[in-house]
Amino acid sequence: MLGVRRKIMVAVDGSAVSDKAVHEAVWLAGCQGGKFKNKLFAVFVKADRVRDYDDLFIKGVSAEVEINDRWHKIIDHAFLVVKRLAAEKEIPLETIVVEGAPAPSIIHLVGKYDIDLLVVGSTGKGAVKRAFLGSVSAEVIEHAPCGVYVVRA
Ligand SMILES: Nc1ncnc2c1ncn2[C@@H]1O[C@H](COP(=O)(O)OP(=O)(O)OP(=O)(O)O)[C@@H](O)[C@H]1O
Ligand SMILES: [Mg+2]
Repeated sequence: MLGVRRKIMVAVDGSAVSDKAVHEAVWLAGCQGGKFKNKLFAVFVKADRVRDYDDLFIKGVSAEVEINDRWHKIIDHAFLVVKRLAAEKEIPLETIVVEGAPAPSIIHLVGKYDIDLLVVGSTGKGAVKRAFLGSVSAEVIEHAPCGVYVVRA
């Protein structure tokens, strides 16, 4: 359907692979011929487990204000590239932060915002060298109610 505004969602976890996914998502969002601009959504899920970010969550940090401060830094960093590229290309961007398990949260948001295409990296922060797909990408491919574009590491 050419000329119809698409809603594209990219899932970011602050990894280099999710930044690659962001580049693809911005490129896709910029490819449209109609008079309406496509809209880009970037989602970061504050997962209940923090092992992906253990460089920032050094053991023993318990003060809630310090934990919030660290999350802010992680989230700012995760959205850095998408904010810059979307601004450069003048693509409307909405950033979303939710708390929970990453894949079910992303799948819920795809339905809530009526997303047409979801873009994810094949792996992320937890990347085990040999894995082709991480658990989040595998789960969204299986259950998201829209097409999923998996950007290779
Ligand atoms: N917390 C998150 N919030 C938003 N998107 C995420 C999150 N975690 C992963 N993603 C998305 O999913 C992609 C694949 O990451 P995934 O977590 O599946 O791989 P992994 O970290 O290598 O493996 P695992 O987490 O299973 O150990 C990321 O590139 C990103 O696009
Ligand atoms: Mg992960």
